[in-house]
Parts: sequence; C-alpha cells; structure tokens
Amino acid sequence: MPQTPVPGPVTATSDPQDLIVVANRLPIEAVGEGPDMTWQRSPGGLVSALEPALQGARATWIGWSGHLSGSGEATPGLPEELDGLGIGEVPLTELDVHDYYEGLANGAIWPLYHDAVATPIYHRHEFERYVDVNRRFADVGAQSAPPNGVVWVHDYQLQLVPRLLREQRPDMRIGFFLHIPFPPVELFAQLPWRRQILEGLLGADLVGFQTVTSAQNFLSAVRRLLALRPGGDRVEVPETHGYRTVRVGSFPIGIDAKSFEALAMTPAVQARAREIRRELGDYPLIFLGVDRLDYTKGIDIRMRAFGEAVRDGILDADQVTMLQLAIPSRENVEEYRRIRDDVELVVGRVNGDLGRVGDPAIHYLRQAVSREELVAMYVAADALLVTPLRDGMNLVVKEYVACRTDNTGAVVLSEFTGAAQQLHDAFLVNPYDLDQLKRTLGAVATATPEELSERMEGLRTNVFEHDVDRWARSFLATLSGALT
Ligand code: ADP
Ligand code: G6P
Repeated sequence: MPQTPVPGPVTATSDPQDLIVVANRLPIEAVGEGPDMTWQRSPGGLVSALEPALQGARATWIGWSGHLSGSGEATPGLPEELDGLGIGEVPLTELDVHDYYEGLANGAIWPLYHDAVATPIYHRHEFERYVDVNRRFADVGAQSAPPNGVVWVHDYQLQLVPRLLREQRPDMRIGFFLHIPFPPVELFAQLPWRRQILEGLLGADLVGFQTVTSAQNFLSAVRRLLALRPGGDRVEVPETHGYRTVRVGSFPIGIDAKSFEALAMTPAVQARAREIRRELGDYPLIFLGVDRLDYTKGIDIRMRAFGEAVRDGILDADQVTMLQLAIPSRENVEEYRRIRDDVELVVGRVNGDLGRVGDPAIHYLRQAVSREELVAMYVAADALLVTPLRDGMNLVVKEYVACRTDNTGAVVLSEFTGAAQQLHDAFLVNPYDLDQLKRTLGAVATATPEELSERMEGLRTNVFEHDVDRWARSFLATLSGALT
C-alpha cells in the first residue's frame, strides 16, 4: 500500500504560555502512605522531557499523583504549584489503577504498540474504565483551560481525551503527542476498540508522533479502519457541519542537553565518576545500561550478549565489566514480574560463570538513583548499551551523549528505537541478532579513540540541535498554526 508522505520535524517557534498539559503522571509521585508519604520525581521519559520543556512557561499540568485515592478525594499534601508550574490532580482509586492503568493502558495498549513483544490482553471491563478515567481527565482539562486556550494531551493512557475535550470545549486548540510508537495497522487492527481510539485521537487539531513511521502508521490506520482519505499530513474529519482539519506529523522528542552537560562538568560529578570507576574495579572498559525494568528494553538480551562475548573471548574478562541500572516499573503487571525474573536469572548465570570473589561480571542495581548519581554513571561509563526490541524514542541514549563532554564514549543502539532514526553515528544493532550484538561489543572494544571521538561528535551535534526546547516549540507552533 502506498504510504502517505509526512513532513519531518518543523522548526518554527512559539512560546508555551497559558498552556494546559494533560498527562497520566504528574511530574512528582507520592511514595508510601499516611505520615510516611514522601514525593519523588515520577519515573520515565515523558516526565524527564516535559518538565524542563515547561520551565518558565505559564502552564498547568494535570495528572495523577501516584497515590491511591479511597473514593476520589485529593492526595493529601499535593502542592498546588511546583516552581511556578500549576498542578491539577485527577485522583485515581485502586480500581481505576487496576483496570485503566495496569490493565488497559499497560496490559493491552503498551504491548500492542510495542510490536506485541508481550501478548496484549483485552478485557472489556478495563476498556470501560479507560473511557471513564479519560473522561475525568478531559473534565479537569476543560475546567482548567481559559477561553480559546491551548491544551496539550500526552501519551497512550489518554487517547480518548482529545475528542472528549472537544465535545465540551470546541473553542480550544487541542494537541496530542504519543511518546511511544504507533504500530503498523496490521497489529493495531487487533484492538477491539480501534475505532474509538482513532476517533478519540482525531479530536485533536494536531496529532504528533516520535517518528515519520509512526505518523504513517496512524494515517494508514485512519484510511483503512475509518475509511477516511488523508491527503499528505492532513485528515478531513466529518463534523455535523462540514469538515474539520486534523494535522499529523513527526516531532522527535529531545532532552535538556545543556543541563545534562552542565551537571556532567561539575567537580562533584566528575569526582563521583572517578569513584564509581574505582568501585567497579578500575576496569579499562565499562559498559553501562540504564532503563526502566521493562520487557521492551532488551535488558536480558544485552546481558546475555555481554556474558557470551566474555565467554567466547570477544571481550577480555580482565578488561571489561558491566553496570546495569534498572528502575522498578509497573510491578503489579504480570509481564513486568516475569521480565524481572528473566533479567535476574541472566545476571545470576553470568556472574556465576564469570564472576570472581568481590568482583561480579555484571553489577546489577534495581533502584532509582538521583540525577547527580545517574550523570556520574554516564560520565564513568565507556560505552552505553541501549538494546530495546521497540522504543518510541529512548532518552537515556541522548542523556549519555550530552554527558560525554570530551567526545569520548560509545553508544550501541538498537535500530528499533526512535533515537536510531536520528543518531546514525551510534553502533546500530538488531537486538534479536545475538551474534551481531556480540560482534558489536567487540567492535566497540577495539575501536580507535579517533573513530569513537568522530562518532561522538556527530551524536552530540544531533542531541544538542534537536533538544527538548526545540521539540516543544515545534509542536506548539504547528498547533497554533504559526508555522513559518
Ligand atoms: P522510558 O520513557 O520508556 O522509561 P526513556 O529512555 O525515554 O524510557 O526515559 C527514561 C528516563 O528515566 C530517563 O530520563 C532516565 O534518566 C530515567 N531513568 C531510567 N532509569 C533510572 C534510574 N534507575 N534512576 C533514575 N532515573 C532513571
Ligand atoms: C514511558 C511512557 C510514559 C510513562 C513512563 C513511566 O515513558 O511513555 O507515559 O509515564 O514510561 O511509566 P509509568 O507507568 O510509571 O508512568
């Protein structure tokens, strides 16, 4: 089937002012209960990217606090404002979290949109809860936005919100951005509620994706499943009186590269990086992995490849070690418990076979660390391993690159990440091909400093040019029609 051309990223600018952001997660998350409750930065790339993009903007962020509400009451102690950013809450009960978040969003849509690498599970009652929760997010958004305001809805948990918002507030400009991939129509067509999801998204004026492929997949789904006829990057959606135009485009997300670079250069982080190298045994070649503990990330695959490469002599056991940092994620969902077991089995096997007393081959930490500690790890590591089976973008790779201020370091990157569409200077791999992955680890170990530095220079140019500020401005400028 011929694919509809979609324009690449746009570069026009506009200021994100008086903006309403609607996302499942607020930037901070409640941990613990009652008097023991504390706040921490919410996990994942959406919050990492969006928070700096909104700094200094007049914006309100509507989302869930991570707290389980008994019967819809607000989270005690949730601030109304965070560094000038307004906070609006959508409380979720245990049942909401079970059916909408863990069920429909993370048991059905997340795996389906990631090439069904785990089997999506479809339950009708979970979709009913998804509709109900999306309606509550839309209600809070509609109440919060000023007349003719701009609302920016985020991610797969809230795909019905654009349409629900438009029904209540046709005066508003509505943008939607999907942080994860949009799958090929052959997969998307499985979804029992495919029509409702497409119609929900088409409630927006602008629907943005991480890659041109995702945007094309969406347009194909609209053509095949709704029998509409997209022309280029536009879909004419029938309304009671005439048609409304929806634009579709790709807007690859970036990071706040300058702030990562600045943090990496601080004496405290540099000193901590040297200390981490010592703690890891002063090996000349340190491989690093940093991910949410998610089955899409290919964590077990990269560890297996590392172990086999050492066993087969592709990597010299006296020269290399590996550090894997995994942040616990969605632990009530069955597939996440399984991937934890799989990862920990591989760590145990590799360390059992190759480790020495006080000196494991893989150092595995299953915990969140502070931004400073994370950046020190990026500075300490000689190579980053990013091997997802599918990933909308992957911000970790961009963070690592931003921290390599002296152009050293190497990146092994799965071709199935959105980032691979931009970062051509990485060592690109097919994570399903274990032998190729092992050979690539060997290639990193034997690359000359000149080759690595040339590659890193190319990577850094890209990461700094396509930063999060540019992403937000591009999206909002296109949304406001101020494209130049
Ligand atoms: P995803 O959004 O799927 O989690 P990304 O790579 O896009 O994947 O974003 C992950 C974000 O989470 C990054 O900003 C990264 O710094 C952060 N992160 C991942 N693991 C940890 C950890 N163990 N501790 C602290 N932050 C982490
Ligand atoms: C990815 C998703 C985000 C999500 C994040 C963390 O980045 O795109 O929408 O917030 O993972 O996952 P969690 O389920 O903890 O919010």
